[in-house]
Amino acid sequence: MELVISTLDPTHKLPRHIAIIMDGNGRWAELRNLSRDKGHVRGIEATRTTIEHCVRLGIENLTLFAFSTENWNRPGKEVDHLLALLAEALENESSLLLKNNVKVKIVGNREDFSEELQHAISKLEIATQKNEGLRLFIAAGYGGRWDITNAVREVAKKVSAGALSISSITEDSFSEFLSLGNVVDPDLFIRTGGEQRISNYLLWQLAYSELYFTDCLWPDFSEKELEAAIKSYSGRQRRFGLIGE
Ligand code: IPE
Ligand code: IPE
Ligand code: MG
Repeated sequence: MELVISTLDPTHKLPRHIAIIMDGNGRWAELRNLSRDKGHVRGIEATRTTIEHCVRLGIENLTLFAFSTENWNRPGKEVDHLLALLAEALENESSLLLKNNVKVKIVGNREDFSEELQHAISKLEIATQKNEGLRLFIAAGYGGRWDITNAVREVAKKVSAGALSISSITEDSFSEFLSLGNVVDPDLFIRTGGEQRISNYLLWQLAYSELYFTDCLWPDFSEKELEAAIKSYSGRQRRFGLIGE
């Protein structure tokens, strides 16, 4: 990992969990008269930079939106390319992730993925499972509605098997069934690419996250951009429905 000087200081409050919608790869490429595919390739570099910087800063949890349930509806060629790139990245980045003590978990519905991709996923999850540094969640085949529906199904199964009583279902116990389980909710949500929407990301978990939107297109996202988001977060007063201070 190269030396990067951070502009954060101890007065800045660090989020324990950052969730990012990495958007704008296609537009980044179109602006340069390149194919959208090239934008996705450059997006992987920004992803690596971001992960490494989170490691440097000591962030505990990072969740990245790589492929949504709705992204299945893109033209077949783009879908194929995106998923092939994902498989390739999981493979290629493995040693760097191991070196950086990153524990990886892919969250989302992987049933429709190719066998190769499913294999790449399990291989990386197993290889990094004992790591105790940054917990990296990659949302792929992921949709917030899918996540909640899936959790409801799991809960219903337990109830009908007599293993869970309806009265014991609480917000906390229910969230254990979601793909992020008992991971602390994202403190900071970042979306690049200029759109100000959630796009079916972590619908349950973003209930009280601080939202940060930037026009920066994902391939241009850098350590500086990440720190700008953290600084913005750090200056906010979170009230959680209470009154100030
Ligand atoms: C984000 O970039 C990557 C994925 C959705 C997988 P886009 O491909 O959405 O890029 P834009 O938004 O069209 O620029
Ligand atoms: C959200 O980006 C999904 C990912 C970044 C993986 P999209 O580009 O798919 O979102 P919309 O279509 O602009 O809402
Ligand atoms: Mg987009």
